[in-house]
Amino acid sequence: MAMGSKFSEYTLTSPVYFGVGAVADIAEKVKRFGAEKVLLVFDAGVKASGAAERVIAYLEAGGIGVSTFDDVKPDPTDTSIDALGAIVARDGIELVIGLGGGSVLDTAKMAGITVKTPGPMNQHFLSKGFNPPPAIAPVILIPTTSGSGSEVSCVAVVSHGDEHIKDAIFATAAYVILDPELTVTAPPHVTGFSGLDAMAHALESYTSASADPFSMMASIEAIRLVAENLKTAVDTGTDLEARSNLAFASNLAGIAFNNTGLHFGHAFGHELGGFFGLPHGMASSYAIPVVIRFAAKHAPERAAAIAQAIGAPDADAAAQKMLDLMHYCGVKRFSELGISVEQAQGIAQGAIDHNVFFHNTLVPLDLDDFKALIAEIVETYEA
Ligand SMILES: [Fe+2]
Repeated sequence: MAMGSKFSEYTLTSPVYFGVGAVADIAEKVKRFGAEKVLLVFDAGVKASGAAERVIAYLEAGGIGVSTFDDVKPDPTDTSIDALGAIVARDGIELVIGLGGGSVLDTAKMAGITVKTPGPMNQHFLSKGFNPPPAIAPVILIPTTSGSGSEVSCVAVVSHGDEHIKDAIFATAAYVILDPELTVTAPPHVTGFSGLDAMAHALESYTSASADPFSMMASIEAIRLVAENLKTAVDTGTDLEARSNLAFASNLAGIAFNNTGLHFGHAFGHELGGFFGLPHGMASSYAIPVVIRFAAKHAPERAAAIAQAIGAPDADAAAQKMLDLMHYCGVKRFSELGISVEQAQGIAQGAIDHNVFFHNTLVPLDLDDFKALIAEIVETYEA
């Protein structure tokens, strides 16, 4: 995956059990790991949808003991995971199940680490260097949104407890259940932001310096599927075909970016979201049109393939189509958020410092280049 290397290494993190209704087989999947006591991690939204109750019933019918943690907050902090570690130790947890969106899945992965590696979670921050991955108990992830790709990534995203800084920790799930039926209750704005996040993952992976034939096969298909299905799923949440296509797209994009990393779009989105308290999907979508234009400049053949996948005649038209989709999904203008170009540029150095994948662009960027791109991102979406 290194730039300029003649070798590429591609990875699939775990089996993925995919299909409408797949979650009904959860107890059987837990038993594969020889676990009898599990922690089910979810949040208030998943609880309200009834999905947690269903999963608990399936597990208990299969003779599995279930502890629950239902208080996951968006963008989990390392200190919130440390608190979760106490529950894990108290209840003798052997396996962790995450049922929810990206924040829940990441929390579940880190809870899996607390089973095997006691001590503060902040010792594992990637910003402290590429240490060997911490030991982790089996974790089964069940996404209820189509976007994060966290179920097939080898990291969990975590915020520093006392600062608005995003970091990451090596953590990989042992098994994934991808059941599109679980995503039908996601409200339109969650569906929209999640789908745009998946689109951003796919686009940044496809246009990264580390893209290889395997990742590009996955990312270009994800781009096509999101472009074709997101509006339908936002309009008609119960459309199972659109939901299935988005679940698959999000998973493919996750597989792609787990192999290649992302680049300036997510570096900006992470820092912006952390600093101004914006939802990840929205913050990470802002760069989408500029990522496409950047590709047109530095890798025209990739931009042409992107335009085709999006169903547009060229890269400019593709960027415009994505802008329209972002507005349709309710992504706020920077002026509505009270963020000026200068304020957005003010996070540039932090974004570079906190995101190891920043340098994964097709051509190297320095601070001034990045600031110019940020101005373009803000002005493009404001127009
Ligand atoms: Fe993302």
